[in-house]
Amino acid sequence: MNIFEKINSLAKRRGFIYPGSEIYGGLGGFYDFGPLGAELKFNIKQAWWRDVVQARDDVVGLSASIIMNPKVWEASGHVSGFSDALVECPKCHKRFKVDELKKKEKRFICAGCGGLFENKGRQFNLMFKTFIGSAEDSASLAYLRPETAGGIFVNFKNVLDTMRVKIPFGIAQIGKAFRNEINPRDYVFRMREFEQMELEYFVKPGEDEKYFEEWLRQRLEWYRSIGLKNIRTHEQKKEERAHYSKRTVDIEYKFPFGWQEIEGVANRGDFDLKSHAKVSGKDFSYFDEETKERFIPHVIEPSAGVERIVLALLCEAYEEENERVVLKLHPKLTSYKIAVFPLLANKSKLVELARRVYNNLRKDWVCAWDDRGNIGKRYRAQDEIGTPYCLTIDFDSLGKEDVTVRDRDTMRQERIKIKDLKDYLSKLL
Ligand code: GAP
Repeated sequence: MNIFEKINSLAKRRGFIYPGSEIYGGLGGFYDFGPLGAELKFNIKQAWWRDVVQARDDVVGLSASIIMNPKVWEASGHVSGFSDALVECPKCHKRFKVDELKKKEKRFICAGCGGLFENKGRQFNLMFKTFIGSAEDSASLAYLRPETAGGIFVNFKNVLDTMRVKIPFGIAQIGKAFRNEINPRDYVFRMREFEQMELEYFVKPGEDEKYFEEWLRQRLEWYRSIGLKNIRTHEQKKEERAHYSKRTVDIEYKFPFGWQEIEGVANRGDFDLKSHAKVSGKDFSYFDEETKERFIPHVIEPSAGVERIVLALLCEAYEEENERVVLKLHPKLTSYKIAVFPLLANKSKLVELARRVYNNLRKDWVCAWDDRGNIGKRYRAQDEIGTPYCLTIDFDSLGKEDVTVRDRDTMRQERIKIKDLKDYLSKLL
């Protein structure tokens, strides 16, 4: 098994990621996150929300609906322009994105059939369609949102009118997005249903470049703060950029399958607010009380994918050491913070004390309980899922009212009094 296969296998075996609808043979491009994956995702989203929204005076949050009036996607250009050119191999009938073939012709040439594509392909819109109400016709047609940004733009006026916000300010949202990708690939890297964490930061025209640089810097710093080291930037060329973008810089991670985007920072200019003003007939201008100027704000958009960050973190954290596999995840992201073990499961005094410790710590942290097998095996099992601290209650603990705290990374063990445990762990976590 190569490293990527080993990471996939660990993620399945230890309850991070399961193939979607697995008992029915799966469904391409859809995955389910198991108990540990759900915690990891939650912690990533929480870290982002804290840093991008709650810790700042100039950003507010939003939770818009996934299905919106289809006019939203007409105004945004997604109905007419959010498509990939698709070609079908005339021999084996496999389908490919034209731009992938051009870039990676050798890799994508049909294995076994060697089909060559001479046509330019047909345009294939990536939005999932659905119908509202009982009639299935064009009047009831709606889309699952392809990005969370749409909900932010249509609520720009609502936020402006109801909150005390002043330019520059941002509106942030975390939520599901859907794209009918032609080739879902590389595990949870390219899926058809995924989660985005997006910020639309509204600025005065002319100040957009300054804020673009500032957000790019902050986002890179954020990735380093959660422990991602193998990152770089990629300036998109004009032909790579989305229809709304004046400038986009991708933040890329070095996955086992190559450097790939985990976040895009885009300068969307005034494209969105202008288009929505035009299609809706509403006024999206902003009046600056200080300068007495009226203008349409420009938008800087850092947009990240939660599952791509999960995958990057698993790749970054996965380490094989002499006799163990360890996920060296940042403690603020790990599914469990602490695991508690009574040395022996059949000694009721040990179990009783361990339960007391466990129940007390659970009030503050997500904790695991394990009383099966030998202690060495229990340590290995927690290392593999990244639990930073394991606590063992042994016979000495009964008299001394202390526990052994074992550190995931150094494997060093220290005896700590039970009454001091919370303080001790708070400092570490
Ligand atoms: N609002 C801007 C926007 O949606 P994007 O570059 O298309 O820009 C932003 O998407 C982020 O969303 C990407 O950097 C990626 O992390 C994530 N993303 C996009 N498509 C995805 C897919 N099919 N599967 C998983 N994540 C995806």
